[in-house]
Amino acid sequence: MSKAAQTFNRPLSSGLTTTEAEFIEKAQKAGKRFIDQPYDLYSESNHNAWSALFARMTEKWQAFANPQFLKGIEALCFDPHRVPRLEDVNKFLEPLTKFQALAVSGYIPAFIFFDCLRNRKFPTTITIRREDRLDYLPEPDIFHDIAGHVPMHTDKAFADALVRFGDCAHTAAEIVRDIHGKHEQMQVLESILRAMARFFWFTIEFGLMRSSGGLKVYGSGLLSSYGEIEHSILSESVQRFPIQIEWVINQSFEIDHYQPLLFYVESFDHLFSLVITLERWMLDGKLNNVAPGEPVINEYDLASFLDSPST
Ligand SMILES: [Fe+2]
Repeated sequence: MSKAAQTFNRPLSSGLTTTEAEFIEKAQKAGKRFIDQPYDLYSESNHNAWSALFARMTEKWQAFANPQFLKGIEALCFDPHRVPRLEDVNKFLEPLTKFQALAVSGYIPAFIFFDCLRNRKFPTTITIRREDRLDYLPEPDIFHDIAGHVPMHTDKAFADALVRFGDCAHTAAEIVRDIHGKHEQMQVLESILRAMARFFWFTIEFGLMRSSGGLKVYGSGLLSSYGEIEHSILSESVQRFPIQIEWVINQSFEIDHYQPLLFYVESFDHLFSLVITLERWMLDGKLNNVAPGEPVINEYDLASFLDSPST
């Protein structure tokens, strides 16, 4: 079916449904990355999707999420039945760690994304998955971003680690700027970005943390997944190891199935120290030639670093 026919057949009530939102398509076509959240466009079906997702995750969070996340969920005072307004979320979030959720129209190139973290701004998807397809979603939505990521941003030590990770992106851009020769420059940049993406994946998105009650989840990809959060802690088919930076930066991953390999940290201070080590290794050239494989670094992410302003 052509794109035009798909648009024509779109139900009027699609509201701000992921991949079906006209408002978002227009913003993207106009090149607007940062947008206002057009709250009135959410349909009842969108609110129902939020309500169903929130209700079924609540008991999973109680069983498997780390205590800082549970505190964060309390602190943000979400209405379990309505899609959150970002300005309401920020009223509770900002006084705690100065972090803010910032509405975006879709994909944000890597340097800009990390630079936002450095400035305590979290690029946030505002669309939500379909009410009749709650389980599988290849792209992020507001449930993943606001219910999976943002509660972690209420914790000071975690927030500081994210900011420090944002600093690493600037360090990477500076290192690459000083390399002579286009070919070598691109090779090093691609390798550093692959290492950073792997680190981000195995910590911020899929990280586990050791606590007195056993392993708990702090990675947002797990915190927003009804099936995988339990699987990550209980399944015998998952390998769980203490995090080792030299392993993580060389470890490829695939995004479209449950993760067979996860790493745990001891605390968020430990996570912060790992980010410091990552930057040290970057400066020492140890990220310049990491193992090939996933993820593939796209041209927009590479360009965002090459075009970043010198600081
Ligand atoms: Fe995420």
